[in-house]
Amino acid sequence: MARLLVVHHTPSPALHSMYLRVLEGARHPDISDVDVISAAALAASPAEVLQADGYLLGSPANLGYLSGAMKHFFDTIYYPCLEETRGRPFGVYLHGNDDCTGALRAVETITTGLRWQPAQPPVIVTGQPSDEDLDRCWELGAAIAAGLS
Ligand SMILES: Cc1cc2nc3c(=O)[nH]c(=O)nc-3n(C[C@H](O)[C@H](O)[C@H](O)COP(=O)(O)O)c2cc1C
Repeated sequence: MARLLVVHHTPSPALHSMYLRVLEGARHPDISDVDVISAAALAASPAEVLQADGYLLGSPANLGYLSGAMKHFFDTIYYPCLEETRGRPFGVYLHGNDDCTGALRAVETITTGLRWQPAQPPVIVTGQPSDEDLDRCWELGAAIAAGLS
């Protein structure tokens, strides 16, 4: 069975609501042959990354960049996973108060280095997530999981 690893930093209710919708989409009953594993960015290990077939990344924008937690994740897994995870698909959702440009650029730079393949457009939300924003999170989770099935 394929495995999708959701790596997230979820420090607030806004991000929590996005995270839950991403998981809900990824775990849709129609996608029964994909095992969806969730790991906090501060705890995710290289072994979990190596064992997955694709990735969903969720982070706030902090100080014009990715959260330190998500940066820590990439610092931890980059070289241990560089060769074996090349070409694997990923999706990303980001949340900020007003601007996620630097955070998105950071994800793109790091995943380009890893040679991970963007499988869906990023979901970027600023301010309070609307119902439509949360639907986009659901669709992101479902699409990434369906792509692995
Ligand atoms: C230290 C710090 C730095 C932040 N920097 C940014 C930033 O550069 N751009 C942005 O849009 N939001 C920034 N934020 C807001 C966070 O992205 C936001 O708090 C997070 O996504 C959770 O959203 P919420 O506080 O509305 O629940 C920052 C928050 C903190 C605590």
